[in-house]
Amino acid sequence: MWCTVALGLLLPFSYAHTDFFTSIGHMTDLINTEKDLVVSLKDYIKAEESKLEQIKKWAEKLDQLTDTATKDPEGFLGHPVNAFKLMKRLNTEWGELESLVLKDMSDGFISNMTIQRQFFPNDEDQTGAAKALLRLQDTYNLDTDTLSRGNLPGVKHKSFLTAEDCFELGKIAYTEADYYHTELWMEQALKQLDEGEVSSADKVYILDYLSYAVYQQGDLRKAMMLTKRLLELDPEHQRANGNMKYFEYIMAKEKEANKSSTDSEDQLEKETEFKKKDYLPERRKYEMLCRGEGLKMTPRRQKRLFCRYYDGNRNPRYILGPVKQEDEWDKPRIVRFLDIISDEEIETVKELAKPRLSRATVHDPETGKLTTAHYRVSKSAWLSGYESPVVSRINTRIQDLTGLDVSTAEELQVANYGVGGQYEPHFDFGRKDEPDAFKELGTGNRIATWLFYMSDVSAGGATVFPEVGASVWPRKGTAVFWYNLFPSGEGDYSTRHAACPVLVGNKWVSNKWLHERGQEFRRPCTLSELE
Ligand code: OGA
Ligand code: FE2
Repeated sequence: MWCTVALGLLLPFSYAHTDFFTSIGHMTDLINTEKDLVVSLKDYIKAEESKLEQIKKWAEKLDQLTDTATKDPEGFLGHPVNAFKLMKRLNTEWGELESLVLKDMSDGFISNMTIQRQFFPNDEDQTGAAKALLRLQDTYNLDTDTLSRGNLPGVKHKSFLTAEDCFELGKIAYTEADYYHTELWMEQALKQLDEGEVSSADKVYILDYLSYAVYQQGDLRKAMMLTKRLLELDPEHQRANGNMKYFEYIMAKEKEANKSSTDSEDQLEKETEFKKKDYLPERRKYEMLCRGEGLKMTPRRQKRLFCRYYDGNRNPRYILGPVKQEDEWDKPRIVRFLDIISDEEIETVKELAKPRLSRATVHDPETGKLTTAHYRVSKSAWLSGYESPVVSRINTRIQDLTGLDVSTAEELQVANYGVGGQYEPHFDFGRKDEPDAFKELGTGNRIATWLFYMSDVSAGGATVFPEVGASVWPRKGTAVFWYNLFPSGEGDYSTRHAACPVLVGNKWVSNKWLHERGQEFRRPCTLSELE
C-alpha cells in the first residue's frame, strides 16, 4: 500500500489547461449562469404546460361533441349549424391543432443553452476538480467516507457525494493510473450501494474497476475475492472469468517462486524504500503543517514572541496611530500586522483584480521564463499604484511599515485560490544557480515579502514554512512580512514556504515583493554573510 501512496504523490498532477476550478472568483460566474438557465428552463416548462393545457381543453371539448354525435349521427347533422361546424373543424381547426401540437416551445431555452454552453467547464475542468478533491483527501488525511458525507470542518453548505459521484472519482483516478485512490473511491461507491442507496451505478462495473485497482497494487487475494463477488452478480462476465483464471495461475506460480525467494528482490525493495524516504520528508512536513500538526516551536522560544504597537520606526504617519504587530515566528523572523487593510480597501482591490485574474505563472528554473505549473494552482492579477489611489495608498503603507523603498518593488499581486488551490514549497527569492529571473527588472533580488490576507479561509489555506515548522493562518485584514535575504544579499533558505490547499472556502491574498535596489541605506549590509 505504501508503495502506491508514494506513487500517487509522485504522479504529476497536471492542471495545465484547467482553469475554472482554480479560482472561486470565476466559478461564481458559473453559478449565476446556472441560475439564469434554471429560470429559462422554468419558462420553457410553463410554455409547454400552457400548450398542453390548450390541447387538453380541445380534446375534452371534442370528446363531448363526438360522444353526442356518434350516438345519433343523423339527428346531429340534421342541424345545419352542426353540419357547418363539422366542415369547419375538419377543414381548418384540426389543422390548427396539429400546428399547436407540433409547435416547438423550447426555442428560448435551447438558444440560451447553446450560448451559455460555450462558456461551460470542459472535461479537463471536471478532471481538474476531481483531482483537487483527491489531493485534499491526501493533504488533510480525510477518509473517503468523511469526504463523501461532506463532513468537513467549517462548511456552510453541506453537500454529499452519491455512489455515482464516488464511482466517477474512482474512474478519474483510474485513468490517471492512480490505483490507490481508485480503490478507495470504488470501495466507497460499493459501500453506499450496499447500504441501500438508490442509484444507477452498477455494482458489476464498480467491482470490475475495483478488482483491477487492487490487483495493480499487488493484493492478489483481495482481487480474487472481488472478482468472485462480481461473478456471483454476473456469472457470464467474460473479463472477470478470464481474470479469475489468470489470478489462479499467478497465485500458483507465486507459491512456486516463494519456495526459492531471492535476495535481489529484497534489495530492490530496500532501494525503493530508500527512494520513498528520500522524497517524502518535505512533502510530509508540508502536509502536516497544513493540518496544523508538527509545529516546531518550543515554549521557551514562544515566550520570546511578543505583540506591540508599532509606529514604523517613528514614521510621522504612524506616531499618533501606531499599528498592531505580532511576532509570528522568530527564525526566520515573521511578523504579522493586524487591521492593516480595511474591508473597503479589500473590496476595491478584489474588484480591480477580478476582471484580470488569470492562471498564476512561475519562473521555470531551467529557462527563467514564466509558465503555469501544477504546483501553483491559483489565479492572479497585477495592480499598479497608478491605476487606483487605494493601491497607491497600500504601497505607501508597506513602505512606511517596512522602512523599505517600494519604488523598486514589483506591482501588487492579487491572488485567489479556489478549493484545492495551493502553491507548493518554494522560495520567493532567485537562487544563484538559476538564470536570473529578475534581470529584466534591474532591481536585484526579492529582498522581502509582504503578504496581505484578504479573506478568512473556512478550512485549510495556511502559509507554511516546512524548513522551520511554522504555520501562519490566514486572518482577514492582516498581513505578514519576512525578509528573504540576509543583509549580505545571501538567500535565507529557512524562508522556504508554501500556500496549503484550500479545503473549504476561498482564499484571497495579495503580495508585494520588495527588491534589493533602493534599500542600500535602509538595510545596510553587515560584515557576516548569514547574519
Ligand atoms: C506566494 C506565496 C503564500 C500564500 O504567492 O509566493 O507564497 O499563503 N503565497 O498565499
Ligand atoms: Fe511565496
